[in-house]
Amino acid sequence: MTKIAPSILSADFMRLGEEIRAAEEAGAHMLHIDIMDGHFVPNITIGYSIVESIRKITDLPLDVHLMIDDPDKYVRNFSEAGADFLTVHAEASVHLHRSVQVIREHGSKPGVSINPATPVAVLENIIADVDLILLMSVNPGFGGQKFIPMTIGKIKNLKTMLTAASVTPFIEIDGGVKIDNAKEIADAGADILVMGSAFFEAKDYRKTMEKLNEILGN
Ligand code: DX5
Ligand code: ZN
Repeated sequence: MTKIAPSILSADFMRLGEEIRAAEEAGAHMLHIDIMDGHFVPNITIGYSIVESIRKITDLPLDVHLMIDDPDKYVRNFSEAGADFLTVHAEASVHLHRSVQVIREHGSKPGVSINPATPVAVLENIIADVDLILLMSVNPGFGGQKFIPMTIGKIKNLKTMLTAASVTPFIEIDGGVKIDNAKEIADAGADILVMGSAFFEAKDYRKTMEKLNEILGN
């Protein structure tokens, strides 16, 4: 089963509640929430109070992706706001092992993300401590960018690394995922596909989910 996590970055923020309910009713498996601080990435999105509001209106697992500097300062707030998965960037955390422990202590499942130019090798000593690894397949900051093809090789390398270590965190892919490339990405070893523009810019969310489930053999 390959899970689909619509990213609300591409939702209509004026109708965010309706958009999330529609995604849930369409059969989305998780909800991806991008937090950007204008430092780690050149864009600013939302803070933990919005995550808290989202938590109240949906039963979907909340998959919170922190694209922020100094994530340790805020992980407690996001955990308490209701993040089920809470992911920090390896590039943003000087003491990544500690960040992961802190997330777990506060009740969320920890995830670690790397940017396109960061090799999967940096994850070697953290894979046993996380529940999710998020490989960015675009440079983070904006929705609607093109999938970077070398990500396929990174997924395969990561999968090999996880198998060798006998650990099973989810592999999540974020950026440029479309109906057309979903199968190739899943076949390479991805467990969760984030979908922003390809999901929320489609007219019929239910049809999109049906199509994806069919393509992915869910
Ligand atoms: C990019 C974000 C993504 C984004 C993906 O920095 O992390 O989650 O929403 O959007 P699409 O699917 O449009 O590439
Ligand atoms: Zn994201």
